[in-house]
Amino acid sequence: MSDKSKPSEQAGMQLLLRLLPFIKPYRKMVLGALLALLFTAGVTLAMGQGIRILVDQGFDSADPSRLNQAMLIMAAITAALAFGTFIRFYLVSWIGERVSNDIRLAVFNHLLTLHPHYFEENRSGEINARLTTDTTLLQSIIGSSISMALRNSLTFVGGLIMMLVTNLKLALIVLSSVPLIVLPMLMYGRRVRALSRESQDTVADVGTYAGEIVQNIKVVQGYTREAEESRAFAGEVEKAFAVAKRRILQRSLLIIVAMSLVFTGLATMIWVGAQDVGGGVISSGELSAFIFYAIMVATAVATISEVYGELQRAAGATERLMELLSSKPDIAAPSQPVALPDGPLPIRFDKVNFAYPSRPDQAATQELSFTIDAGETVAIVGPSGAGKTTLFELLQRFYDPQSGDIHIADKAIKQLTPQDLRLHLGIVPQQPTLFSSDVWHNIRYGNPQATDEQVYQAAKQANAHEFIQRLPKGYNSYLGEQGVRLSGGQRQRVAIARAMLKNPSILLLDEATSALDAESEAKVTAALQELMKGRTTLIIAHRLATVMHADRILLMDEGKIIAHGKHDELLAQSELYQRLCKLQFDH
Ligand SMILES: Nc1ncnc2c1ncn2[C@@H]1O[C@H](COP(=O)(O)OP(=O)(O)OP(=O)(O)O)[C@@H](O)[C@H]1O
Ligand SMILES: [Mg+2]
Repeated sequence: MSDKSKPSEQAGMQLLLRLLPFIKPYRKMVLGALLALLFTAGVTLAMGQGIRILVDQGFDSADPSRLNQAMLIMAAITAALAFGTFIRFYLVSWIGERVSNDIRLAVFNHLLTLHPHYFEENRSGEINARLTTDTTLLQSIIGSSISMALRNSLTFVGGLIMMLVTNLKLALIVLSSVPLIVLPMLMYGRRVRALSRESQDTVADVGTYAGEIVQNIKVVQGYTREAEESRAFAGEVEKAFAVAKRRILQRSLLIIVAMSLVFTGLATMIWVGAQDVGGGVISSGELSAFIFYAIMVATAVATISEVYGELQRAAGATERLMELLSSKPDIAAPSQPVALPDGPLPIRFDKVNFAYPSRPDQAATQELSFTIDAGETVAIVGPSGAGKTTLFELLQRFYDPQSGDIHIADKAIKQLTPQDLRLHLGIVPQQPTLFSSDVWHNIRYGNPQATDEQVYQAAKQANAHEFIQRLPKGYNSYLGEQGVRLSGGQRQRVAIARAMLKNPSILLLDEATSALDAESEAKVTAALQELMKGRTTLIIAHRLATVMHADRILLMDEGKIIAHGKHDELLAQSELYQRLCKLQFDH
């Protein structure tokens, strides 16, 4: 993410505690898993005793019935272990899947509340990576690593105690190697966590890059940039690999150090133990049990050191997810919102000064003031970059102005909940956005409760019904990502139908000049005429026909209204307007 906070000094494992609120709802499952964990750890420890009996009484005694008895005991222990493991594995994996899905949902729900500015700063690919890669990592942590760490901690402690009980001298030999193992683990852990975060970030970069190329594939191919893009992508991939390599090197070092220390200790112990058996100090069963415990303890240590690296990685992922979850929406709903009435509503801008957060020094509107009466149709014209679309963004409260107020029906829009405000606004944007779904879904987006009949009606009014019917599957036709399977004019008419279905009190139309031939222009214009009836309409106009239909025209330049009136008045009044008419409308 670009608002990267410094890797916090909070210890890695503490970060994982922030997952607790997500695990809490499933306390019963966790309790069950813990019980199963304790049970299997206990049974594993009992197995050492089984081995002792088996060796001393089975192998060493002449009585074959003793061997059978010992075998039966071992079989019972194994069955118990299998049963306990089944319960533990099922419960723990279940919790992992459940919790990671809950986190995914929480992150997505939070994203829905964030302001558009957040998505300008954070590329969609990175956000996707949080939702997929990071949560998947957490799933494997909660669904296995944590349980592995717990289980091995238990067997470590239990095995250690059993070692001490079984043979003190041998146990002390093994124990002397423990600090040598724990120290490097702690040292490396921190390094692995930092590298893990970096590694996840570079993987996200790879995804973002690919996503952008795929979305713009026609531009890439049109400019025959395939080879360059391939090279650039290879660069991204290699960067990710380089970071991953550093991470796995650290982890491999950690593992090799831990393992060699453990096995040196183990070999020494067996060597000493074997001499003691030879000298008759201990029985061979005792040595067997001891070796069993020692291997158990060693495996536990090795596993924990490996899992520790995993947990550090998860701490990195948790940190990123929590960062995302704690980013606050800029646009807040008031504590005591007022409600908007229905019907056509008047609009007033009062000395509105605004600069986009990403360009704080460049004013997008300056002291912008104007009023629009209820039910009036007003065209906004002005050169490109004048701030016309910005005006719509402010009216929908995607951004708050730095100073000045915007009123609808004499209520400051800050006093409304953003939802209530937007419920009253219908927008047909400059570049209509469609979802990769069928026509039904796209039109119904304006009103999910609409009946089929109402959808047809809206499509007819938008002049879209005819072409939709000619699509291969009619209203069930799939429109492709961003509606790529429609022409520009068709996309616009679907967007108009959607706005019709919403039936808003205020209509915001951002006309697109491109993509319309004379015939579909006439169709779109006719559709818009229909849509404007009985509503307050603000229309950013690029077509003379639209301007002529408006009750009034606002001429906008450099974030201000510099003139307003009827077409003829403006022609007489304003040089800029004359120029615009010549350039934009006379073709
Ligand atoms: N998200 C954004 N972040 C930063 N600056 C922006 C953003 N959107 C627009 N701008 C800038 O704000 C100014 C006004 O842009 P706006 O989109 O309102 O122009 P417009 O009048 O709609 O132009 P056009 O007729 O070309 O659509 C421009 O200088 C533009 O570069
Ligand atoms: Mg615009």
